Parts: sequence; C-alpha cells; structure tokens
Amino acid sequence: MKNFKLIYLIFCLTIFSGCSPNTIRQSSLLQYDAKINHIIRQMTLEEKIAMLHGKHMFVSAGVKRLGVADMHYVDGPFGIREELQPDGWGSLGWETDRATFFPTGSALAATWSPELAYAYGTGMAREARLRGKDMILGPAINIQRIPTGGRTFEYLSEDPFLSSRLSVGYINGVQDNGVAACVKHYALNNQENNRGSVDVIVDERAMREIYFPPFKASVVEADAYGIMAAYNKVNGWWASESDMLLNKVLRDDWGFAGMVISDWTGTHSTVNAITNGLNVEMPTDKFLGKPLLEAVRAGTVSEDLINQRVREILRVRMAIKPIPPEQANVGVTSRKPQQKIAYDVAAKSIVLLKNSGILPLTLEKKPTIAVIGANATQAMASGGMGTGVKTLYEVTPLEGLRNRIGSDARVVYAKGYEPVVYRFSDMFEEKSPQVQKTEAREKRKVAQKLAQEAIEVAASADIVLFIGGNNRAVETEGSDRRDIKLPSGQDGLIQEIAKVNANIVTILTSGAPNDLNVIKPLSKALLISWFNGTEGGNALADTLLGKISPSGRLPFTFPVKLEDSPAYALGNYPQGQKANDIFANLVAKTESDITLKNEKVNEAQLKNADTAFYSEGSLMGYRWFDTKSIPIMYPFGHGLTYTTFEYSDLKTDKGTYTTRDTIKLFFTLENTGTSAAEEVVQGYVHRVNPSVEWPVKELKAFSRVQLDPGETRSVTLEIPVEHLRYWNQDTQTWSDDLCDIELLIGASAGDIRLKRRITLK
Ligand code: NOJ
Repeated sequence: MKNFKLIYLIFCLTIFSGCSPNTIRQSSLLQYDAKINHIIRQMTLEEKIAMLHGKHMFVSAGVKRLGVADMHYVDGPFGIREELQPDGWGSLGWETDRATFFPTGSALAATWSPELAYAYGTGMAREARLRGKDMILGPAINIQRIPTGGRTFEYLSEDPFLSSRLSVGYINGVQDNGVAACVKHYALNNQENNRGSVDVIVDERAMREIYFPPFKASVVEADAYGIMAAYNKVNGWWASESDMLLNKVLRDDWGFAGMVISDWTGTHSTVNAITNGLNVEMPTDKFLGKPLLEAVRAGTVSEDLINQRVREILRVRMAIKPIPPEQANVGVTSRKPQQKIAYDVAAKSIVLLKNSGILPLTLEKKPTIAVIGANATQAMASGGMGTGVKTLYEVTPLEGLRNRIGSDARVVYAKGYEPVVYRFSDMFEEKSPQVQKTEAREKRKVAQKLAQEAIEVAASADIVLFIGGNNRAVETEGSDRRDIKLPSGQDGLIQEIAKVNANIVTILTSGAPNDLNVIKPLSKALLISWFNGTEGGNALADTLLGKISPSGRLPFTFPVKLEDSPAYALGNYPQGQKANDIFANLVAKTESDITLKNEKVNEAQLKNADTAFYSEGSLMGYRWFDTKSIPIMYPFGHGLTYTTFEYSDLKTDKGTYTTRDTIKLFFTLENTGTSAAEEVVQGYVHRVNPSVEWPVKELKAFSRVQLDPGETRSVTLEIPVEHLRYWNQDTQTWSDDLCDIELLIGASAGDIRLKRRITLK
C-alpha cells in the first residue's frame, strides 16, 4: 500500500510539472480491481442492483454475505450532520452527535490557505469516523456565479484557481484520514432557484476554463473518490445522466475511477442514468431499483455495464475501511483538536474591508462598547433549509467579545432589529393578504421599539460595534436571495445610529456579498466575518482587539450594485417563476405533517424559467468587472491588515518561455508597519497581444506570507505555462496562445503593485 502511494505520488508530480492537461492519470482506486472482480463474480444480479440505489436516506447497500459493508454518507460540507431517522429528516434526538461547526465554504476560501483547507478536511474526517461514516458529502465547490446564490456561503469562490487549490486541500485532508470525499455538485449548479429543473446553456470554453477546473483538480490532483451529480441540466442533459459530464469529461478526460451519486431525488431515468455514468441513485430506488433489474433482464442494459458501475463503488468501499457499528458514536463527536482547527480557520478568514484607524480597539480607557445587532447573538450552524450542524457549541460574536474583554471595558448590548427566521412551511403555504398585512404591522411595531433601544445604547457609548449581515435563513439552500440588501432594515438602523455616535465599526456575519452603499461611508471600519463556525466569536474578538491581525481576503467581488454583476447585467438571471424546490419537495413528502400546496406550476412560466443562459461566458466575477471596466465596491482578493506591506523588485527566471516551462517569479515583500501580519500575495496574468479573447486578468498563483514588523522576505511564485492554455472549441483540445504576457503581482485584483512582461514561444 505504501509503495503504491509513493508511485502514485511520483506519477502525480510528473503530471503536474508540465505534461499535457489531457493526460489521463491513474487513480489509486484501480489497485483494488483484481480483488473486486473476484467479489463481483460471486454476486447475484439482485445484489448488484441493490448497490445502485439508496437503502436508507443516507445509506446505500453493500453485500453482507460477501463481507461488503453498506456505504454510510453524511452531509457535509461544514460539519458532520446530526443523526436522522433512517428514512426521514427528523432528528434522532441524540446528544453524542453534537459536532464541530467549521466555518462555511466562503469563510474557508477567505483564508486563501490550502494548508488550512487540508486541516479542515482532516477535522471533518476525524469526526465522520467517530460517527461511523464512510463518505462526506462535500466539499461543495460550485463557482459563485450570482451574488444572490442561496449556497454562496457553502461554496468557495468565484475564481476557479482559488476554488481548486482549496478543494484539493480539503479532499486530501479528508481522504488521508480514512474517509471518502464526495465533491458536489457536478456541474453548473450555480443557482438555487429552479435548480431541480433548470437547463444551463453554457459554452464549452467557459465550462472547461471556469466551471470545471475545481472538479478537475479534485479528481486529477486529489483523487476524489466520490462525485455528486448536480440537480440541474447542462446543455439539455440532466447532470445525473449526462454522457458528456460523467463519461467523457469525468471518466475519460480526467481518469475518475470512483463513484458518482445523484443529489437527493436528482435521478430522472433508468437506462440513460446507468449508461451515462451514474452509480447510485439517492436516496430512492425509483429508477435504479426494480426498473433497472428489469432493463437488465430484458437485455436493454448489459450486465457488463452493471458490473462496471458496481466495480466503481467497490473501489471506494475497498479504499475506505468500514467502521464497526459498536465503535461508532461512543462519545461526543466534537473534540478539542477539531475545535482548534475551526478557530484557526476562522482567525484567518476575517476580512478587514476598511479601517480608518479605529481598529484594533484599545481598552486602556475602559470604554463603553455598544454591541448592536441581532447577528451578534445569532447562531449560524443551522437555520435554513438543507444541511446544518447540531453543534456542541458556537461562540457568537457577543459571547466572543465578552470572553475576551472581560472587565476591561463595559459591554452593552442591543438587538437593534428582528432577524429573518426560516420556516420550512413558508415554501408551501400561501398566506392570505389579510394575514400578511397584520404580520407586517406587527413587524413594524417591533422594529421601531428595537431601533429605539439601540439608538439609546449607542448614544451613551464610546464606540459602536454594529454586528449585522445575513443569517442562515437569508442565505439558504433551495432559494436564492431576491437582492443583496442587508435584511431586517439594517441600513435604516445604522443611519439612525450614526446620528448619535460616529464611532461605528461594522461587522457583517454574512456568507455572501451585501450591498455596502449605506453602511460603508457610515462605518469607520468594516469587516466581514462570515458564518464562522464553533469558534467564530472568539476569532472575531481576537481580531477586533488586535490579538491577531486580520488576514482574510475576499474570495469574491463585492459589486457596487447587484445589477452590475454579469448574469444580472446581461439579463440572464433571474429567470421567472420558481417551482417548488426539488429537495424541499422530498423533505415535505417524507415528513407527514406537511402538505404540498404548490406543486402545480404554470407550464408556460416554467418554460421561461427553466433555461439559464450563461452568455457572459468566461467573464465571471472579477473577470467581468475588469474586462468591462465596471466599478466595484471591493475587489476580489481584497483584505487589509493592521500593518502595511511594500512590494518591490519583481524578477523572473527568464524572459521567454516555452509551453513546457514553469514561470518563476521572485519579488521582495517588506512589512513596513508596526505589527506582525500575514499578506496574501497574488499573481495574475494579463495577455498583451493574444490571438483569442481573454479576460483582462486571471489569478494564477498566490501565497500567504507571514512577516514581523520591519521584516523583508524574498517571495517566489510559480506559474506552469500549461496553466495559461485555453480550451479550443474547434479542435476540442487545450491550446497555447503564444503571446506576450504581463505578470501582475498585487494585494488584490484591484491593487496591482508590480508588473513584468514575458513572452511565450
Ligand atoms: C440536497 C443537497 O443539494 C446536497 O448538497 C445534500 O448533500 C443532499 N441534499 C443530502 O442532504
């Protein structure tokens, strides 16, 4: 086994130092095939079919008779989900399943640290093992295409390179610790509205260069064992039965040898699904149960194909050691080492967007600090539809501040506004206009009272920490936000507060962009501290108090206004009437107390709603804003520290590079301020005289560098020339665009400090 790993590693190193991106690599999973073939020969057709669909809500079958254990899945991606009824969504009501809540995807991405992503994966895997799980349904790595996306908080970034590096780290952490990762949702699941019906129409270059790379890296570099097919269609085919996605790209091009599972009730056919690459229909057996058995008996599907699908599952089963039931759930899931990882990630994720010198806070004069905002006490481990974590504990921002400040200052709290609360039944119940009116009146009354209290508290304080933003009810699976405005009237409230106290520090605990037009000018400092896990409040307090210097960087662009972002600007999103969410339907159907009121959707509206055109092509996120010269609020990669850095002296190892070379960049970084801090240096490329169209710049390298005050360091970044290729739609291959390249080194996509021109030959 050890030798195999070594050969595999050497093989990977060879691949990643310059071979063609089309080279098919050998997955480590192939080592089990001889043994597997022996097992398959002993299996009945019924036993094989039983492996290809759900046995319970989060279990698919093994073959007990032959010593093949069932496969136990668990959500993922930011904590090990609580134990549910085997065939429903109700909690089992245990106490031992309290897990660590890790910072969600966009927080992890804001660390720009593959090392922390690895630690994160390690932590997830350890807790999954304690609970007897084989496969974590994560990481979730779809590109954040629309700022309103309901799962932006779960996903990583708008940039494929950053997403790839973090996904690889996460998966390696998981799989090195004996659990399989199931990367989701492959592919193009970039919106929640209509996700169960929408057909994504996208050109192949954008797919290959923007939407696929994180998945490709997960398979080619991290040897991910599992892939979850997305709910949506891609260019006319359901993702769970797309020959292009599953057979041609995933298996043939990338050499994937593991198993593909459907998203929950995301299977739509028998013959197409099994032929085009799906291994397991979850959680039901509607298509890959009896109908599949009959199709094999009728000769429509060959037993050889069934054997292949079973083989792919068994490879994963062989690679992951099952946990005997008596060894699972013997103690509480969340443990100290994982809580420490959650803290480390949170501490490096917080992004300081603006600081006019008010931070870090000084407590010398024992100030009165008014903490205002419901987000200061809001738990973020759960709260919307879909996965959440029943966490052992979650330090909220207010608790964190109290923990760290103790008696060094007077901390007073006012809620300020009523947070949005998620009610599952809202998706199905239509309220009468009368009920809506009464509720709105009540809400207004409560809002006025809360605002009044907050203003009084602010007026008597030295400093206001306004802790607002979204929450898990606002950002949720199953639906996108209508806009990016701060919910619950927070803009109006902060305007009132600013009239009585000008010393406002605003902290947004959001997983996705907000409209900052009102709060930015009214805040002396502005931070985003995400849905930041079990230790989020402590990490925030340590940052505000200067125990650590902020070092998170935005994984996505903050637009000035929503309408500037590509899908909105081009009229590609939103797309009309929304059907009931596919997953909400499943949950509703398995919960007896919910009646489906709204299943029938107007056919004509659905037709219009069910196509998402990606006519922006590759111009996603900062690629769009840069190329179209559209002003932004904060650029991708942005984040301040409590110090200053100077960049100088950019050199490259050569002036001209061939297609097999790696560009080496060297420059000097100096901490010119007075506190120790970490800078995330970013390397972008700009094509000067290309022969095909490109975005103005693209991220191709980055690194976190820690420097003490006054310290200088020489930094090296590397960019393999093969990473600069484009997908040539005519030849259906990766092609070189041999041109002059300007290498850009900076602190964000909007803050380029150094440039150097080189030539590709
Ligand atoms: C639907 C979600 O899209 C997916 O991410 C999740 O893993 C499954 N439900 C199971 O909860």
